[in-house]
Amino acid sequence: MRESTGTGLILGIESSCDETAAAVVRGGSAALSNVVASQMSLHANYGGVVPELASREHLRNVVPVVREAMARAGVTFDELDAVAVTEGPGLAGALLVGITYAKALSFGLGKPLIGVNHLEGHIHAVLMEARQRLEAPIPLPLLALVVSGGHTHLYLARQSGEATWSYRNVGRTVDDAAGEAYDKVAKLLGLGYPGGPWIDALAARGNPRAVPFYFGQIKPRPHREGISFPNKKAPAVTAGPAFNFSFSGIKTAVLRYVETHHMRERIEARRAALAADTTLKPGSEAVAALCDAETLDLIASFQYAVVGNLLRQTFAAAESFGARGIVVSGGVAANSELRRRFQAEADRRGLPIAFPSLALSTDNAAMIAAAAWPKFVAEDFADDDLGATPQLRLGQT
Ligand code: KG4
Ligand code: ZN
Repeated sequence: MRESTGTGLILGIESSCDETAAAVVRGGSAALSNVVASQMSLHANYGGVVPELASREHLRNVVPVVREAMARAGVTFDELDAVAVTEGPGLAGALLVGITYAKALSFGLGKPLIGVNHLEGHIHAVLMEARQRLEAPIPLPLLALVVSGGHTHLYLARQSGEATWSYRNVGRTVDDAAGEAYDKVAKLLGLGYPGGPWIDALAARGNPRAVPFYFGQIKPRPHREGISFPNKKAPAVTAGPAFNFSFSGIKTAVLRYVETHHMRERIEARRAALAADTTLKPGSEAVAALCDAETLDLIASFQYAVVGNLLRQTFAAAESFGARGIVVSGGVAANSELRRRFQAEADRRGLPIAFPSLALSTDNAAMIAAAAWPKFVAEDFADDDLGATPQLRLGQT
């Protein structure tokens, strides 16, 4: 028998990639706690996320992280109205840890279980914080750019009634995600992992116009109708323009630049210096001193090109679909140049725009509990057979 306490308290659990996270959020808008156990330093040794290690770490962390989130929120399990968990997309083994734990908890407590799409979570992180700041809501439909190490997606989001959000995927990367390009280029240049913060901090010191990088035009194109996906959660495919991205070309262009400009030796020296002193932080003078002017110019030009490409596609999609506001979320939304240029372009066009705080840009569980709120209101609960869906899609294409 399911019990609702009427407190509006939802415990969110997130374990889709390399962060084990739990949070308690009231009514989709007030985060009472937000605990994140990052495995970043573990995976940094390998320059990327190792799925087997990630699952094992989630197993170790999930119980203490949930306990900590409950303690910091000052609530008991009995006071919860529901348990929400990321069901995908993400690493299968990593997702399973959160899902299995959340299922057992919801079963034991007799409270509903809510499955949340990780990408929807990123969008709701921004909406939740805007509500917390008591700002006027972003007018709908809104265009959301979810840009992280695993995703570069554009969604047109609407709300029909209080409880139901609908999404249309109007753009995505055809190869690497933008964050993945940051991570790969940082690794190539002998910088730390994850690469975003290192490149972000160093880019300000170089000339963004020193190296011209061109993005092959991926033109808006109509989707073909009638394509069927093997994934049972895949929505029907409808016609409409798509604003896609491609980031593998720029990574190769950086590699070519490094080779033709004989930068290898300098890169290896930098890599060795950073390995010898693991206390060095991305924004420090010591790290900047490890980079010559040519390297700083290359970094600045890379970031200028990536942000420019994200900006052009996002605003072109917003215009094409008549979006009335913009939301940017995901790890790369922490980027300072991205925030500055997106804000300036939105101001120029008179479009409201919102970004998450730095803490809620990267993976967290407050966003999962926030995205679960409209589903709780609509009693859109998960079945007993909720499983991990690594390729889970959000909305219609
Ligand atoms: O959302 P997130 O924590 O995890 C995924 O779902 O991927 O995003 C992590 C990604 C990494 O690729 C990281 O390099 C990137 O976000 N990132 C940044 C910045 N901070 C993190 N990229 C650019 N600039 C930043 N300041
Ligand atoms: Zn994410």
